[in-house]
Parts: sequence; C-alpha cells; structure tokens
Amino acid sequence: MTAVQVETWDDCEGEMSMEEGHGPSWEAFINHLAEDSFEGKSLLDFGCNRGGFLRALYKRKPFAKALGVDIALDSVQDAEARKGNIPAEYKHNDALADYKGAFDFAFSHEVVYLIPDLKAHAQEIYDALKPGGVYYVAIGEYTDNPLWERWYKTVSEFSPVAPQNYSLQDMAEAFGESGFDVSVRRLVCDGFLPYDYTDKKYLLSPMELVQFMTEYMMLFRLEKRA
Ligand SMILES: C[S@@+](CC[C@H](N)C(=O)[O-])C[C@H]1O[C@@H](n2cnc3c(N)ncnc32)[C@H](O)[C@@H]1O
Repeated sequence: MTAVQVETWDDCEGEMSMEEGHGPSWEAFINHLAEDSFEGKSLLDFGCNRGGFLRALYKRKPFAKALGVDIALDSVQDAEARKGNIPAEYKHNDALADYKGAFDFAFSHEVVYLIPDLKAHAQEIYDALKPGGVYYVAIGEYTDNPLWERWYKTVSEFSPVAPQNYSLQDMAEAFGESGFDVSVRRLVCDGFLPYDYTDKKYLLSPMELVQFMTEYMMLFRLEKRA
C-alpha cells in the first residue's frame, strides 16, 4: 500500500515500555479469539513492532507459520533477532504485496489509527487473506474514546506516522465496503493491571487505566466474504 519506511515508530525505550504495557491486552486479545487452535494455519501480524504479539500468541496457540510486517525497519529487525524458535519472519510492510491469498488469519493490535487510507488497508488485507480468512483488529484509539482527544495530541508529538481521527463506525464502513463481514466486541482485560503511576503520557490515573483496558478497547472480527 505504501513505500514509506521509518527507523522506529517510537524510540527504543518507548517501544519496550509499550511492549510491557500491551502484555495484558495481548492476553485478552488471545482469550477472545473465536478459534481454539491455529494448528496448521498461516498468520499475519500487521504493525508487528518488535514481535511481541506473535511470541505471546505462539505460547498459547501455536501456528504453522507467521509473517509480521511493520513500517519501522529497526523494529522489524529487532523482532527477527528476538523471535527465538517460533516459525515467524518479520519484514517491512511493502513485502505484503508478495503474499496474495497467503494467510488464514491476520491480526493488528493498536495499529489502524496510524493508517492514512483505511480503505486501501482493508483491500491489502483482503488480498492477503485466503477465501473465508479472518482479520482481527484490536483498537483503543478512536474518536468515540473520551481519552482519544488528549492522546491524539500526545501521539502527534512523537510519531513519524501521523495519527488519524477514525470513529468505530468509520472502521466498520471501511472494512464492510471492502468485502468483510463485520462483527465487534469489547476487548476486556482481566485480573490485576500493572499501573505505572509515573506515566505522564497516556494513563494518568488508575481509573483511566481500568476504563481503557476494560471499556474502551474494542475488537473487530472481520471475515472475508467469498
Ligand atoms: C502502537 S504500535 C503497536 C505495535 C504492536 N502491534 C503492539 O501491539 O505492540 C503501532 C505500530 O504500527 C506500526 N505502523 C504504523 N503505521 C504503519 C503502516 N502503515 N504499516 C505498517 N505498520 C505501521 C508502527 O511502526 C508501530 O510499530
């Protein structure tokens, strides 16, 4: 979809702290998946950053093979270096054009708000999936989230990729009109949530943390129509 490349999305320290913060929502994401097993399946993680989601998924639901793609080259290299023995490879997202009809499932976690053309993104995932394939989109950054107005400014200050102002309805329309059956649920994190009381960027009180992780995170299940 795009030839844009950046070195890292956030600096290394920011991305490592993001990885830690995303742990509970990756686990909730995996808990909510409709599929009990990905045995024999081929998976795509779009916006994989440093590879943490696929590593977490493989521990719980092993898959046959996976590709992680990201616009940020250093992050992709780091994901490759840290993959251990999971059957995954990591590449810049331009490589996706070579994977037509290749995947049974695709995932993105906290990525689509950074994509400037949602329809083009929906089309590239549609093309990359096998018939009947499913794209799971986990997202907490959208205009219906009351925290988003503040976060939009925060992300705009550091991100080399400009954030967008999509509503949940915008997302549903973009994927629905691109040939996906759309369903959605809350992504609800369970258990005790680590709270970083020194965070001055995103979650400024325990209430914001709990509300975000149990009310505002959403999970779309987008099934490619035959
Ligand atoms: C908030 S981070 C989420 C990373 C990861 N999915 C996770 O759960 O920790 C957003 C990621 O999307 C990537 N990204 C932004 N725009 C992208 C694009 N157009 N194509 C692919 N990746 C993109 C960024 O480089 C970054 O790694």
